[in-house]
Amino acid sequence: FVVHAAQALTMPEHAEALHHWDPTRIVDRDHEILGLIEDACILVENGVMTFVGPWSERPAGAKRDIPVMESLVVTPGWVECHTHSVFSGHRAAEFALRNAGRPYVEILEAGGGILETAARLGRTSQRELEDLLVPRVLDFLRRGVTCLEIKSGYGLSTQDELKMLRAVKNVQPHVPTELVGTFLGAHAIPKKYQSDRRAYIDLVINEMIPKVAEEELARYCDVFCDRGAFDAAESREILLAGREHGLIPRIHADELTDANAARLAAEIGCASADHLEFTPSEVFEQMAKADVVAVLMPAVNLFLGTTGHMAKAREILEAGCEVALSTDFNPGSAMTQDIALMTTLACTLYKMSPGEALRAVTIGAAKALRREDIGRLRPGLRANLAMFNVPDFSVIPYHFGTNHTEAVVANGEFVYW
Ligand code: NIG
Ligand code: FE
Repeated sequence: FVVHAAQALTMPEHAEALHHWDPTRIVDRDHEILGLIEDACILVENGVMTFVGPWSERPAGAKRDIPVMESLVVTPGWVECHTHSVFSGHRAAEFALRNAGRPYVEILEAGGGILETAARLGRTSQRELEDLLVPRVLDFLRRGVTCLEIKSGYGLSTQDELKMLRAVKNVQPHVPTELVGTFLGAHAIPKKYQSDRRAYIDLVINEMIPKVAEEELARYCDVFCDRGAFDAAESREILLAGREHGLIPRIHADELTDANAARLAAEIGCASADHLEFTPSEVFEQMAKADVVAVLMPAVNLFLGTTGHMAKAREILEAGCEVALSTDFNPGSAMTQDIALMTTLACTLYKMSPGEALRAVTIGAAKALRREDIGRLRPGLRANLAMFNVPDFSVIPYHFGTNHTEAVVANGEFVYW
């Protein structure tokens, strides 16, 4: 099929201008970092993009077989690279408690928060988790997401961590969005190990990681490295053990305190360091040198009421890091699937440009997952496309609270329109 669009955003591999902030030429700069083509043609044959370029240069025989819209902006299928989409129940009471003044970390340390969701998950069957997950995946799909990362981490026992990841694997054949699993057994110290955290870390390393790897339930290993969770030394040990089993390391870094987590990410070469609210500025260059993608999740600040202490996105970009944006969808710190809203928040709270924000939900997020086959429009790649009914790409972050998605192509096929 042929797509004829007002604008196509191809997402160049390396965009020099990305790291040089020039507010006086924001429009031209955005066009450059997005690889924008006006009046574009995308030709898809046998599920693969065979032409991406100006309509006037399309190959002979590429006929317009899709109704043309006045305003259609095509981007690579969006990549949601950090979610906790498998859970049951909700934590609305905790939300109210926090808004009344109780900090997130105190609730966790008192045995609530993640541990509350873990207790609930222990009472939920794998089948129930699958039934809860399907509509969540479809909700992301309707927003243009064609690749979705999902973490374990509410099981906190071998059986329940496997249950979460098996639920993801079982749902995959029933949804068009690609699902990728991340093992996050080190999300919190479970209640019964609170007086012997070493025993839990040993369980993660010696039992959970080998089983997850053996069943091929995850591609990544993640750790919550922060106060109330795991320290940098423990995190290093767990991530290196994961790597021994072929799991790519990623890390929840410095969300609540400076836990030396981003530094650790640079030292061992994590694919991404996520959150970064309390990371000292000098670490960003180390991250850039080690090719660690900065995954920023502004919904967390909005939802926890911590907009006074956010990741320093401009400094991170100028240090040379690739940035990804994600919802962090989870019942505790970010109960939203509105990934387009993250582009708005990135602009208003982080002072990113619309172009930077759109790179961050496509190629940036693909890089956080160390994927070269998604997040870009390139001849030769399988077609994953998100199409939006907007007159210009910058309207996506600008006109917020409305889902502008017009159609989605996943793995070469129209799956939503
Ligand atoms: O990314 N920080 C750790 N994990 C999640 C929160 C999980 C929860 O509160 O249930 C996060 O913010
Ligand atoms: Fe998270």
